[in-house]
Amino acid sequence: MSKKKILYDGKAKTIFEGPTSDTVIQYFKDDATANNAEKHSIINGKGVLNNSISDYLMKKINEIGIPTHYIKKLNMREQLVRKVEIIPVEFVVRNIAAGSIVKRLGIKEGSVFSRPLIEHYLKKDELGDPLINEDHIINFEWSTRDELEEMQEFGLRINDFLRGLFYGISLKLVDFKIEFGRYYSEDGNSILLLADEISPDNCRLWDINTNKKMDKDLFRQELGGLKEAYQEVANRLGILPEKKKYSSAKPELVK
Ligand code: TMP
Repeated sequence: MSKKKILYDGKAKTIFEGPTSDTVIQYFKDDATANNAEKHSIINGKGVLNNSISDYLMKKINEIGIPTHYIKKLNMREQLVRKVEIIPVEFVVRNIAAGSIVKRLGIKEGSVFSRPLIEHYLKKDELGDPLINEDHIINFEWSTRDELEEMQEFGLRINDFLRGLFYGISLKLVDFKIEFGRYYSEDGNSILLLADEISPDNCRLWDINTNKKMDKDLFRQELGGLKEAYQEVANRLGILPEKKKYSSAKPELVK
């Protein structure tokens, strides 16, 4: 196993140096966290499932013309992606009320919004990723206005596309969180790429017939059955990895 330098060790993923200066490797861990990492567990095989699910969805999103950081899946836990400068804003797109909006605004869980709702959160763990608005983003120069408009447009297009894709496998896309990064070309110009991952860790998915939750709320709400639900999502997408791939073995790491 080759030794790779860690660039960033996150809650659910580790980012390693890539084979070239404009690439990095995303390693999907089995760690599950909630409430800003107050709650933590290891769920064997979660990283393998999320790598496969995100690989599948990122490829599909690329195919509809939205640029992503994704290059290729390297093995059961790793993806090669373009190195980007992450914009410190999380974009949440909501179709149905669940999670923080239910608590914050007292909206009944399950209420269907008349049109998709976009929210912005500052990526800052120390502050608990607070809700922010467009003026904050522009004023504090977390992105330019043009970038913000492009990211919002991408968010809505991704939502339209994923809603249809999940509907086809009898899942409702309740909401999801995405992140973007700037990819710099040699001439110093940058383009926006969809970054991070799209998996049941950062989407809410409910079964169309039963409303059963099939996402990380199973862990957040201590309902159990997270791995089985993620397997079911992968299975419905037609990408369930072979049994032997559920290894929790870690590669040799150097800091
Ligand atoms: P929320 O209802 O807790 O604000 O979450 C909205 C969506 O964003 C939900 O699909 C889960 C996802 N999300 C993340 O991926 N990471 C986070 O840190 C948070 C707070 C939410």
